[in-house]
Amino acid sequence: MVAKLLFVISESIRTALIKQLNRELESAYVYLAMSAWCSREEFNGAAHWFRLQYDEEQTHGTKLFDYLIDQGAPVGLLPVGAPPEEFDSLVEVFEASLAHERSMTEHLNDLSDLALQERDHATYNLLQWFVTEQVEEESTVGEIIAKLRLVGTDGYGVLMVDNELGTRTLSAAA
Ligand code: FEO
Repeated sequence: MVAKLLFVISESIRTALIKQLNRELESAYVYLAMSAWCSREEFNGAAHWFRLQYDEEQTHGTKLFDYLIDQGAPVGLLPVGAPPEEFDSLVEVFEASLAHERSMTEHLNDLSDLALQERDHATYNLLQWFVTEQVEEESTVGEIIAKLRLVGTDGYGVLMVDNELGTRTLSAAA
């Protein structure tokens, strides 16, 4: 049997990356629950949109997992909590999504700070991919919220936005 070389990232970075991996999987779960709510309420376009968001977040978790494995670091996976599943309206679902993404951005900024403090440039580089992704995610969700606020309770308007959400395809970058 070939013994693994000692991994090179610090224990604090390893622990923080495993926690972030867990947050990405929690995000996936959050979006799966949102997709379920949208399906139940017959917002089928939004259900599709959140289902793809679920796929993206799983990819993010896997990206961190692969990095930890490439670094030879032990990966102890953490439990994933149950997400909220009740919402009052479609716009509220997207507002919850934006609040969630903003908290993810804060965590990624904290993680980037830690990587810089430790002069861990490999981890810092990896994290910058996530930081850039957050800008796109927050912007996209912000635009959807703006459209939904614009149409308000106008059923036809909401239907138009929902139809548009149904045309989303999974981005190659995710
Ligand atoms: Fe991977 Fe949307 O945070």
